[in-house]
Amino acid sequence: MSTWAILAAAGSGERLGADRPKAFVALGELPLLATSMERLDESDWIDAIVVAAPRGWEEPSILLAEEIGAGKVSSVVAGGATRAESVRLALAEVPEEAVAVLVHDAARPLVDDEVVGRVLTPLAEGWDGVVPALPIADTVKRVDGDRVLETLDRDDLVAVQTPQAFVADTLRRAVGGGSDATDCAGLVEAAGGRIRWVEGDPRLLKVTTQADLERVAAWL
Ligand code: CTP
Ligand code: MG
Repeated sequence: MSTWAILAAAGSGERLGADRPKAFVALGELPLLATSMERLDESDWIDAIVVAAPRGWEEPSILLAEEIGAGKVSSVVAGGATRAESVRLALAEVPEEAVAVLVHDAARPLVDDEVVGRVLTPLAEGWDGVVPALPIADTVKRVDGDRVLETLDRDDLVAVQTPQAFVADTLRRAVGGGSDATDCAGLVEAAGGRIRWVEGDPRLLKVTTQADLERVAAWL
């Protein structure tokens, strides 16, 4: 019974606009990737980690794992053109014996053991996947260009984060489908899987812009 983590870190960080991929932008003393890598490495829930690194940054990712003593990092692969493709490539390195897979965005550095436990636990109750989510504070509207079409019922909506937990075989089948959802749960939903949501964490903010980076740095 083993649980593997996939750390999706292969994005270019277009919106952050730095001179290097987002995973290697400094957060505190180390590259951003180090924080989530270290936290997953220290988690008792996780047995091993596969990193999807930006193409050309595989070696620095291995060196980073060595530097911080992240001994659970079992392999580093070059990611693909989309997040779904990066997850697909990383999943190929997860052995058959893995029963659960946790997929996490390196762009959300402040992952902790409590949310990891919250998403992994319901898998034992027969869910195909579990996502952390938060209620939406703003009013949400459907639009078409600059025209507002309708107001959605906020009570029926949540904003979804990572880490997301999956039954390994279910995720393997879902990523084989070739669809390009922005999160893994979307792939499993498209394949007819049953996904549950649990309480997320505001500190799992995804670093997208410079302002996000500053906010997460202040929370370190
Ligand atoms: N990701 C990935 N492979 C890709 C694209 C994204 O592994 N081809 C990862 C990113 O590294 C990140 C997570 O998916 O940890 C969420 O993506 P996002 O925040 O959009 O990061 P980027 O795609 O790097 O940023 P941008 O969209 O601004 O370029
Ligand atoms: Mg992106």
